[in-house]
Amino acid sequence: MSINIPRGTKDILPGEVEKWQLIEQKAKEVSARFNYKEIRTPIFEHTDLFQRGVGDSTDIVQKEMYTFNDRGDRSLTLRPEGTAPVTRSYVENKMFGLPGQPVKLFYIQPMFRYERPQAGRYRQFVQFGIEAMGSADPAIDAEVISLAMTVYQELGLKKLRLVLNTLGDAESRKSHKEALIAHFEPRIDEFCSDCQNRLLKNPLRILDCKKDRDHELMKSAPSILEHLNEESKTYFEEVKTSLDAMKIDYVIDPTLVRGLDYYNHTAFEIMSEAEGFGAITTLSGGGRYNGLVEDLGGPATPSIGFAMSLERLLLALEAEGITLETEEEIDCYVVALGDEAKRKSVAILSQLRQAGIKSDKDYLDKKMKAQFKAADRFKAKFVAILGEEELSKGIINVKNMDSGEQSEVALEKLSTFLKQGK
Ligand code: HAM
Repeated sequence: MSINIPRGTKDILPGEVEKWQLIEQKAKEVSARFNYKEIRTPIFEHTDLFQRGVGDSTDIVQKEMYTFNDRGDRSLTLRPEGTAPVTRSYVENKMFGLPGQPVKLFYIQPMFRYERPQAGRYRQFVQFGIEAMGSADPAIDAEVISLAMTVYQELGLKKLRLVLNTLGDAESRKSHKEALIAHFEPRIDEFCSDCQNRLLKNPLRILDCKKDRDHELMKSAPSILEHLNEESKTYFEEVKTSLDAMKIDYVIDPTLVRGLDYYNHTAFEIMSEAEGFGAITTLSGGGRYNGLVEDLGGPATPSIGFAMSLERLLLALEAEGITLETEEEIDCYVVALGDEAKRKSVAILSQLRQAGIKSDKDYLDKKMKAQFKAADRFKAKFVAILGEEELSKGIINVKNMDSGEQSEVALEKLSTFLKQGK
């Protein structure tokens, strides 16, 4: 009996993987342009990190983590997101003491969440994320948002909607929390058991509940915008001013609360409005998390970041009918006829590859016609034919597959000839 791939995961095969390489390259190139440096963290972390970092009452921690005990009986978790691990690393490696501040990082790493799989929602997915740590300047909030928008726009996406909100500072949140408790408490028994548990601990999470989404109290719930103190209001205004200066359009949605506990002040999501994108329209999400570094044992470090999954980015490209130009062709396919020529073709191929020429040959003892077919399938720009006659003259016959033009090239000049024609 054959064994299938686990639910919610997928293989990325040749043909598809080139698209991945292209968007990863775009993410890296844009990050470099904005002066963000790459960080790589382990695939698993101590479970505590996410309980404390992401928050005990979030869906991620409650229901979605791949947690296991290792042979030393430590509880470990496959990372469901990147912000807590990057923050752990920031503290552990004392990045707060580095000369170049703020510390601006990006990552492209697989994440794991035990969710119900559907289009755009997987159990293993790859996030491109960035974290800017050590600045409380509202202009960096706008920079982070603009970085995400740049990646999308330069790949050709047009049907984007940036949704913006603020969650305020600790004081504003406290006042909002009290208002939420007062709002939900009288009718809390109409809500699911998760929400009942969340009421006193973390009522903001009720607004994020997938089960009770349509309850009438949800729509009339007090908005954070009514509970912002002056400082939080000013901060939000300045973020908007910076976005306006960059000509980035946004809509304000006071119900945008995000599913992770570490956020304060700016919260945002970028949605796809493309028809056919599917039910889950969020392409990326992020926000400010000024308290997280301190919560994880570091000094007070205001920070902001976002993450997007590459899976959803690819779905959005497809939904907008954008095809990525991927390079699949090879430069040269060597067709060898006869035993002597076959032996010689091994050395020729080795020279071509050392010269940086993408090339290949037959390894299935195919006849000439079939070798030409293979060259076609690999979209070879040139086919170099080596038979007994060519061997005896020390030349090789090169056919330009675009123009049909044939040339006799001295064997030792083959790589120079191909490089000129490339
Ligand atoms: P998040 O909203 O949980 O935030 O996830 C960010 C993005 O990851 C989503 O917008 C979506 O593109 C993608 N994503 C999440 N779950 C799945 C899934 N099951 N399948 C496919 N894609 C998915 C975070 O993870 C925060 N760490 C973002 C952040 C960074 N905030 C500050 N810095």
